[in-house]
Amino acid sequence: MHPLLLLALFPLAEAKGWLSPVYKNFFEYPLPIPPIAQPYKTYDNIDYYEIDIKPVDIEIYPGKKARHVGYNGTVPGPTFKMKQGREAVVRFINHADRANSVHLHGSYSRAPFDGWAEDTTEPGQYKDYYYPNAQAARTLWYHDHAVGHTAENAYYGQAGFYILEDEQKNSLGLPSGNYDIPLALAAKRYNADGSLWDPEANGETTSVFGDVIQVNGQPWPYLAVEPRKYLFRFLDTSVSRSFQLYAEADKKVGTRIPFSVIGSDAGLLASPVSTTQLDISMAERWEVVFDFSSYAGQNITLKNTGNVAADDDFDGTDRVMRFMVGGSVSDDSNNGPLPATLRSVPLPPAKTTVDRSYEFMRSNGEWQVNGVTWADVQDRVIAKPERGSVERWELINSAGGWSHPIHIHLIDFQVVSRTGGTRGVLPYEQTALKDVVWLNKNEKVQVLARYGPWDGLYMFHCHNLIHEDHDMMAALNVTALADLGYDEKTRFIDP
Ligand code: C2O
Ligand code: CU
Repeated sequence: MHPLLLLALFPLAEAKGWLSPVYKNFFEYPLPIPPIAQPYKTYDNIDYYEIDIKPVDIEIYPGKKARHVGYNGTVPGPTFKMKQGREAVVRFINHADRANSVHLHGSYSRAPFDGWAEDTTEPGQYKDYYYPNAQAARTLWYHDHAVGHTAENAYYGQAGFYILEDEQKNSLGLPSGNYDIPLALAAKRYNADGSLWDPEANGETTSVFGDVIQVNGQPWPYLAVEPRKYLFRFLDTSVSRSFQLYAEADKKVGTRIPFSVIGSDAGLLASPVSTTQLDISMAERWEVVFDFSSYAGQNITLKNTGNVAADDDFDGTDRVMRFMVGGSVSDDSNNGPLPATLRSVPLPPAKTTVDRSYEFMRSNGEWQVNGVTWADVQDRVIAKPERGSVERWELINSAGGWSHPIHIHLIDFQVVSRTGGTRGVLPYEQTALKDVVWLNKNEKVQVLARYGPWDGLYMFHCHNLIHEDHDMMAALNVTALADLGYDEKTRFIDP
């Protein structure tokens, strides 16, 4: 090509906002399903696993290799399937060239097994994490949490599902087995040679929206489904992109298909909530039942309207994946009507007074929580709820430019109000327990929780991983009821 022609083309592509080279293969490749983690050894009531964190080359763009670093060399990592009441120890062995810290997001893992940012495992080392698996059935995920490098590590592949099951949920007759499918969304950005665009090397300190939408690692995949009910476990692993998902039959564009939300970050809702749009921000999980029974032989496309910033309008961000509905059902079990009641959700007792208020803000080029950053080591413990107490927290995003999905470690909360933006508490948030809440532009959200079950130091932060790394993160110190006289800056607390 004549160099002048190249020069002429380049600004055009820039103006269109293409960040990654254009990927045309929409819905051409099947949805990958992550492998199931197998225990290395099992004992009476505890399973022992080993996971190698190691580099792997993956073809995201056909014919081009992209270096990733994944759990057991897969992206997403292997899915853990755990039963309530069986504990686990997982040894994470670092064969990568950067430190890591593994957080099991959604577990009330007690320090020092919670993935504290500075509790890093260096290359060549390993750490054994203990997971109690005592909570009710829920969809968790595990991902890197290393100080200053979480965005990079998670983006390069250190993220996977961790599914906890229990007998109560299993008794409900919900779609299971091959009809229970985890869907990890990710929005990434690539270089012309097909490699991942590196946020750290490029000095990115605000966001990586990513214009290549991947599900379980594959850009814009398709899934062959049967005309029956499916349970999908949605998780947004993106560094910065939130989604507002809806589904349309290709024969009937413009008509959104209803589906039922049955579970949130912290397990089942009280009852199924029918909706035609699912809002999902980074780190949120929603369990959703889709019924394809009246769409035999049709294609259903999952689309996105959400949070598309002006500078990332590559026209693939409006689509996510396609369901190709076959003509017959091979297994009709667990395909009946959804139960009207799913469980009695252990919501915290009502409380109207606000105990603490936190503003997630940008100031002096820094991402802060009430003016504090994670780097302010002496000041970063900004909440000291008593163990067992119920508190109402107000989380504020007074800026118009950014979303801040806020995650509080250790606890589950109820979203009790959302004001200031364009949304209230979403219908499927009302009877949900959650561990992360989408604080969209100008929104003010109040969350209610009982602080515990342990005392100790835990993090809370924005789950835009670039914001988290730069340093929109603070700590809560859940204090024992009596003053035990320990130094709150000490990492490990022995009550
Ligand atoms: Cu999903 Cu503090 O992390
Ligand atoms: Cu943020």
